Amino acid sequence: MSSIAGGYFGEGVPKPARVMVSREFVRAFPDGLGEVKTAANYAISIYPQKLASQKECDQVLFLDAIHREYIDELGGMNFFAIRGNELLTPELNGCILHGITRRSIIEMAPKMGLKPIEARIAFSDFCKEIESGKITEAFACGTAAIVCPISEFIYQEKLSSEATRIRFQNEPKISLKILHKLSEIQRGHDAAYNSWIFSIP
Ligand SMILES: Cc1ncc(COP(=O)(O)O)c(C=O)c1O
Repeated sequence: MSSIAGGYFGEGVPKPARVMVSREFVRAFPDGLGEVKTAANYAISIYPQKLASQKECDQVLFLDAIHREYIDELGGMNFFAIRGNELLTPELNGCILHGITRRSIIEMAPKMGLKPIEARIAFSDFCKEIESGKITEAFACGTAAIVCPISEFIYQEKLSSEATRIRFQNEPKISLKILHKLSEIQRGHDAAYNSWIFSIP
């Protein structure tokens, strides 16, 4: 079965997303269902997503359930950050969906001069590295959105606490390059990735 999906955040060049992060909500637990596509994972993310919309955020970035510190993924997309020529993404830990877009970007990265690194990413370190200018971009990815740059994180320890805003200062140039490259491959315009396209007998 297939269906046509429109642009996730509007058509054309994606509008960079604002993302809510709260240690109060988690979407997946170790030994649970986080890495599979099941309705339970989406049910648990509906309420935080509603709160995010009220704060004029487009999406929620979920942290791990135990420490409430390590970045897992967004409600319906995987997560990446750019640090110099490093392309960072949370390692597959049982709580993260093994997205095909995530895997495609990791495979494409070396040909784009980027070194993919799958690791635990502490949210506090991540914020410090944005502030110090080491991490310059972050984006969400998935089949529907392909690549959506993130402009800003609105972070709250608890819903009742004051919100902290962390913004990127620069244009998401590398994220948009990845979006362009992946879109070209999906349209069959890049012969180097022909092995990704095959007929189903
Ligand atoms: C929770 C979650 N993470 C990540 C993704 C992205 O996966 P894919 O790239 O396979 O579309 C999705 C897509 O639906 C998702 O629901």
